[in-house]
Amino acid sequence: MHVIVQVIESSTVMAHQTIPCLLLTHIALLLLLAHQTTARVPAVIVFGDSSVDSGNNNQIPTILKSNFRPYGRDFEGGRPTGRFSNGRIPSDFISEALGAKPTVPAYLDPMYNITDFATGVCFASAGTGYDNATSAVLSVIPLWKELEYYKVYQRRLRNYLGEQKANEVLSEALYLMSLGTNDFLENYYMLIGRSSQFTVEEYENFLCEIAENFIKELYGLGARKISLGGLPPMGCLPLERTLNYMFGSGCIEDYNRVAGDFNMKLQSLVAKLNQELPGIKLVFSNPYDILMEIIQNPSSFGFESVAVACCATGTFEMSYLCGRFNPFACTDANKYVFWDSFHPTEKTNRIISDHLLNTALSVFF
Ligand SMILES: *[C@@H]1O[C@H](CO)[C@@H](O)[C@H](O)[C@H]1NC(C)=O
Ligand SMILES: *[C@@H]1O[C@H](CO)[C@@H](O)[C@H](O)[C@H]1NC(C)=O
Repeated sequence: MHVIVQVIESSTVMAHQTIPCLLLTHIALLLLLAHQTTARVPAVIVFGDSSVDSGNNNQIPTILKSNFRPYGRDFEGGRPTGRFSNGRIPSDFISEALGAKPTVPAYLDPMYNITDFATGVCFASAGTGYDNATSAVLSVIPLWKELEYYKVYQRRLRNYLGEQKANEVLSEALYLMSLGTNDFLENYYMLIGRSSQFTVEEYENFLCEIAENFIKELYGLGARKISLGGLPPMGCLPLERTLNYMFGSGCIEDYNRVAGDFNMKLQSLVAKLNQELPGIKLVFSNPYDILMEIIQNPSSFGFESVAVACCATGTFEMSYLCGRFNPFACTDANKYVFWDSFHPTEKTNRIISDHLLNTALSVFF
């Protein structure tokens, strides 16, 4: 700081026209320093599905994994971590932008301990949903169990930091929730159970109730800053286009409509809970519109391929089918909106994250 102030002072004796320009540079530098030194939140704590799982599924017996190449090939060290992308996922970008760590470690990963988790931790599990029946499809971690892990984490954090400091971290942390797509695509529209029991509107309401109870429990445990994630235009995922091949492999419009309806319900829920729960700062992080914009105008974002993913044939593969059994992938993932048939590339993840940081999440800066 001292050096910068001196530079600004000495610049004032320089030629007239150059002063504003120099000052602007210094102000930019000051802002940059301020940004780097002030963490906006002490930790980012993540619940959800593959959109934010940083490796918990590596440690459980499920076939839904991605801890092998080519997953992670653009991650630090070219390392497959269990993230369902070629690089980082939205929770990583959001954590970094808020001054916490650049990657959020998975709670079940034995490489990390409470020292690491004190500044960010991920309980998410690929393939899970709000509905217990969804997590059962591929034997992944149900949402209620993610919360049980969080309760154990709280105890460990209090032991590690002491009661007062831990409580401060827990109440100041940003909690991210990102799930729901699997409830529809892996469960409701795939299996007869829920679809014979509920109309799709009733199922949306059923999921909303679970979301509401989850947020209330989290609030009861001390969380105050919470981002509830919405659904993407899930009818445009390459896998869904493939299922729609009879109709020209376009987006499945019905699925997009359901995503839109469900998002509106989540948004109302957010408004309601902000009224009901004193001191809560709950926001709705909606990836729908920005991802739709990318899908409709891929070239304006520098993408060349939107209907087909980078990995393997790009039409149906994910997890082991994109990897062990088919290691072939495109050369430049930055030209693709989707990495595998169900998940965005790192570049898409970054664009979505930047958008959320500039909109719903801007209240946390
Ligand atoms: C966590 O692991 C690091 C090294 O990997 C070690 O130095 C530290 O003591 C551990 N912390 C706890 C609380 O076990
Ligand atoms: C999901 O399962 C857990 C554990 O069995 C149970 O406590 C919870 O009530 C279930 N949730 C719903 C919505 O049925």
